[in-house]
Amino acid sequence: MKRHLYRTIAGLAIACCVTAYSHAPAQAGEVEVLHFWASSSEAGAVARLKATLRAQGHTWKDFAVADGGGGLAVVLLGSRVKSGNPPTAAQIKGVAIQEWARTGKLSSIDGVARAEKWDDILPPIVSDIMKYNGQYVAVPLNVHRVNWLWVNAAVLRKANAKVPTTWSEFFEVAEAMRRIGVIPVAYSGRSWLDMGTFESVALGVGGPDFYRKAFLELDPAVLGGPEMEKTLETYKRIKQYTDGGASGRDWIVATDMLNRGAAGMMIMGDWAKAEMVGAGKRPDVDVLCVPTPGSGGAYSFDIDSFVMFHVNEQNRQAQSDLARAVMSKDFQQAFNLTKGSIPVRLDVKMDQFDECARRSRQDFRNGAKRGLLLPSLAHGMAQPAHTVAAMWEVILQFWNQDRMTAREAANRLVKAVKAETPTSHAR
Ligand code: BGC
Repeated sequence: MKRHLYRTIAGLAIACCVTAYSHAPAQAGEVEVLHFWASSSEAGAVARLKATLRAQGHTWKDFAVADGGGGLAVVLLGSRVKSGNPPTAAQIKGVAIQEWARTGKLSSIDGVARAEKWDDILPPIVSDIMKYNGQYVAVPLNVHRVNWLWVNAAVLRKANAKVPTTWSEFFEVAEAMRRIGVIPVAYSGRSWLDMGTFESVALGVGGPDFYRKAFLELDPAVLGGPEMEKTLETYKRIKQYTDGGASGRDWIVATDMLNRGAAGMMIMGDWAKAEMVGAGKRPDVDVLCVPTPGSGGAYSFDIDSFVMFHVNEQNRQAQSDLARAVMSKDFQQAFNLTKGSIPVRLDVKMDQFDECARRSRQDFRNGAKRGLLLPSLAHGMAQPAHTVAAMWEVILQFWNQDRMTAREAANRLVKAVKAETPTSHAR
């Protein structure tokens, strides 16, 4: 009886608050959203989105494609659009935003952006990615940092080692972890994860200018130069500290290895932190976070965003409401607390965030001032997917074939990029 009463009171309380916070739109619309967030922490972040939209009186229709990194989601989106049945919104990011905008299938959200003053809220490096021909066609949800090294604190203590900040220290710590019988590196051998590790090594070995020239400008002299050779050698050296199950392993499994202390270190973006928290680990206490060796204040970023497709007037209102809600301070805070990333708005307070997120915000802010923000190659922020795929083929062969030298791999990298980008200066 008592329990029943509590439930009734709780129910009434929820009903009261949802009514108070929701506004009934002139026309309730339906938003079908394609996304690739499927892990438990990602699903938690999506739940925030759904609740936000429902509170506006609209309906959310899930079009989830369980595939970390989003490669499959993009393929499925292509077929839906081709058949004349696009979703209302899709999780599209980086260079692909421009590619989609060029097809003429995207609807502009510039009206909302202007009314809400996004230009004043967003750092230009972010707003530029969201615009096509000067108009906003995408709305950003967050900023993930890619160049993170995560270290299991208990394993580190047991190995009697210190958090590495250079690559030579990294390999010393890896040796120490191997000596105590722990897999030194939790590695996920999938295309976007291989590339994430590779770009982090490049950033640490060659520095931001090298990264820019190699991955943004695709300068053949740099792509095939001595720094790239060194990057490839360092990358391959990691392999001996991984285990036999690394090839094809999902990032969630690798994160679990780190959480349990079966592995000591992991190179991965901070979506993994959300899974750590879900497993009861405290960021910066149980699992330590530092920029990947040598990368210091440089910051390779991955920004999740939604693009909107042309829809009827009723759903158009829902699209605008979604865009407006995603950029609100409350949503940016709630979503990013769940997602492991940081708010894309620099005016959202960080007091509820953990130490890793605060450090991320600080490096992001400083990076913006000092030209140290670098679009992630692995996450489609720097080059079209086909160029990244061509580079990955080379990286993968190099990783797998013991006879291929770093010099050979660097030469192949230049050729692969040239074949994909005939108009670039990578000739
Ligand atoms: C996305 C993240 C996502 C991660 C794993 C990244 O490319 O930006 O939002 O959590 O992949 O699926």
